[in-house]
Amino acid sequence: MSATIISGNFIASKLREELKQRVRILSETWMQPGLAVILAGDNPASSVYVRNKARTCGELGIHSKVFNFSADTPQKIILRQIQDLNANPEIHGILVQLPLPSHIQMNEVIAAIAIEKDVDGFHPCNVGALATGHALFRPCTPFGVMKMLAEYGIPLQGQHAVVVGRSNIVGKPMALMLLEQGATVTICTSQTRELASHTRSADIIVMATGKANLLTSDMIRTGATVIDVGINRLADGQLCGDVEFSGVKEKAGYITPVPGGVGPMTITMLMNNTIEAAEHAKAKAQIEARCGSMQ
Ligand code: GUN
Repeated sequence: MSATIISGNFIASKLREELKQRVRILSETWMQPGLAVILAGDNPASSVYVRNKARTCGELGIHSKVFNFSADTPQKIILRQIQDLNANPEIHGILVQLPLPSHIQMNEVIAAIAIEKDVDGFHPCNVGALATGHALFRPCTPFGVMKMLAEYGIPLQGQHAVVVGRSNIVGKPMALMLLEQGATVTICTSQTRELASHTRSADIIVMATGKANLLTSDMIRTGATVIDVGINRLADGQLCGDVEFSGVKEKAGYITPVPGGVGPMTITMLMNNTIEAAEHAKAKAQIEARCGSMQ
């Protein structure tokens, strides 16, 4: 029997209607939420991602500004830009598009973002908060995956989840979020010896390796939920995930497609986090105004 397709497009468009409503309330009662995006260098994929983020902001009524820097920009210029944005009351979220040019210390740049504006959830304080069960902002891609699992009522408590990929953007936070929901989590990489021996025992598999068609139908058990975070371009220009979709969909219980799966959820969760950052800023401003009027 063919798997149920988990449509990221469908869930994202439903969530975006709710987000528009929250933006409307903020704009009418306080101010428009604002997102700043820093793009350094000329990575073509990054340029496309940033354009899509700015376009989605526009569709939802979020103010956005993209700061473009050439590939040879000194790190201190980018740090200065972040400091300006940290102090700008009209900007509630700051995102530094990764990867950065190789001469820039990514950790130093991310650590410079004010934690209350770190809508990617990559600041070490936000990573620590997630790891200890008190997340402020959850990294957007794994957060989107959690929303997809919830929307389709896929149980996590006591289930075996295998995450293939160990990046700071997807693999590690994905494992933490699954663990938070009571799953038994195994983290593998594309190099794991006998990867299939792990994936075959999984109820839920999340593939995030960037290796086209790595997961094949012989590597899963019948009825497993398969989430494909990979976006790979084949030699013929075709887009595909880390999952060999046509074979795996005949054996899995649920599966995400590429494109139209996790991709639209990532941007939606970025919008969610930006709105949440603005809601926090509004609440803080109201408390400060109340305290001020008591003095
Ligand atoms: N590059 C690839 N994915 C992401 C992401 O989620 N956030 C940022 N900032 N850069 C990325």
